[in-house]
Amino acid sequence: MKETMVEWSDSLATGILWQDFQHAGLIARINRLHQAITNRQSRSELRSMTAFLESYIENHFSMEERYMEVLHDPDMGEHARAHQQFRDNLSQLRACKDTGSQLTASSLCYDLHEWITHHIRTIDKRLGRLIREKGID
Ligand SMILES: [Fe+2]
Ligand SMILES: [Fe+2]
Repeated sequence: MKETMVEWSDSLATGILWQDFQHAGLIARINRLHQAITNRQSRSELRSMTAFLESYIENHFSMEERYMEVLHDPDMGEHARAHQQFRDNLSQLRACKDTGSQLTASSLCYDLHEWITHHIRTIDKRLGRLIREKGID
């Protein structure tokens, strides 16, 4: 198993400082969960990951959503729906954090990694481009 699951690279950068900083923080946490699974300590890490995600979503998603509103982002509906889908998935994570097996933790970690890298590379980058164009970051 690789040490880290996701490497930070330019392909993930939106070019907006606060957005990149927050995304890098999330990626570091996914790697920490991956590491905990490798060391068979996934249960405690799943608990702290859930707590981290609750506040991350509150801050990060609302911040992006505020920018979308202010900039009248044409992708706002699609982007907000994607965030909502992630919020729904978080309830699943919450439900399994106390009883989750190694396998569940592994599959959750994989899903998180897939969701976030796809989301950043597509819709978050489009928002980043819009913020840069409007020059209000
Ligand atoms: Fe987003
Ligand atoms: Fe984001």
